[in-house]
Amino acid sequence: DKSGLAYSVGVTLDRFIKIKQEDFTFASGELSQLLRDIALASKIVNRETNRAGLANIGGAFGQTNVQGEEQQKLDVIANIRFMRALSKGGEVCAIVSEEDDEVIDLQNKSGKYVVAIDPLDGSSNIDVNISIGTIFSIYRRITPVGSPIQIEDVMQPGANQVASGYVLYGSSTMLVYTTGHGVNGFTYEPSLGEFFLSHPNMRAPQNGKIYSVNEGTYNHFDDGLKSYIQECKKREYSARYIGSLVADFHRNLLKGGIYIYPATAKAPNGKLRLLYEANALAFIAEQAGAKATDGKQRILEIMPSSLHQRTPLYIGSVKMVDEVAQYQKNN
Ligand code: AHG
Ligand code: MN
Ligand code: MN
Ligand code: MN
Repeated sequence: DKSGLAYSVGVTLDRFIKIKQEDFTFASGELSQLLRDIALASKIVNRETNRAGLANIGGAFGQTNVQGEEQQKLDVIANIRFMRALSKGGEVCAIVSEEDDEVIDLQNKSGKYVVAIDPLDGSSNIDVNISIGTIFSIYRRITPVGSPIQIEDVMQPGANQVASGYVLYGSSTMLVYTTGHGVNGFTYEPSLGEFFLSHPNMRAPQNGKIYSVNEGTYNHFDDGLKSYIQECKKREYSARYIGSLVADFHRNLLKGGIYIYPATAKAPNGKLRLLYEANALAFIAEQAGAKATDGKQRILEIMPSSLHQRTPLYIGSVKMVDEVAQYQKNN
């Protein structure tokens, strides 16, 4: 069958999407087009990321976003590039972005899809040339196509995602996504301007020896988490914390590991945002045989109550997510 062909390396993203479209759900071709639009924007952001220091687009933009964070110029540029690609692509009716307070209504009477996006993840790393990323979730709108956008269109539980993925602007640039039929990774060849299938059917190790948590806030962690981290040290696990969720998540997915951004006394819901960080990576995690919770429940089951709501995030190898939950239950 043709999908067998899809797993031979050397397949471009476009070809892969076409093969998959014939085999799977998005026969209409609209989701395929939306994925292509996202890939196009990521190529543009990749180029700008790679020359940030030269084009004077590093540093702060001079405004604060709804998160209370000082926006970086590349946050704003990436946001504009993805907005433009999604509105020109014609498949999207509404966008929720980390960098915009309100829902962006694209006034697109035929758009079937809603996108939640973190246009630039790991902003604190832009100026120091460390890997950064983009994270996106795709939903089908709930209310009738062509009718005014309603809040239920943009505040759906993660389990409703029809696709999700991330771009990692790292030592190489990769696009990793799922449409609910497994996870596939593509590596960008800048000289050709194409993403090529490099990581077919990604599966996460069930266990791992890498833990990613910002131990600078250790004193604010609950006792269960503290004892789990002490156990990691006793076992001499590797501590790896990049400060870019996409990069930590991608490494843990490939090698086995856990990323934790817990609730703390200062941040009772942690820092990471449900709609455009946790949900997208939780869908990828589960599709790759890994796990994602808020410490108590599956991320994908959380019913959103506000656009930019935060959630604690425990994501990575199943055995590690389960073990830290055990420590927290026992303490
Ligand atoms: P963003 O740059 O999109 O605001 O996200 C940053 C997130 C995540 O990428 C990273 O793992 C985490 O913030 C780092 O937070 P701390 O600096 O508090 O550890
Ligand atoms: Mn931010
Ligand atoms: Mn982020
Ligand atoms: Mn961001």
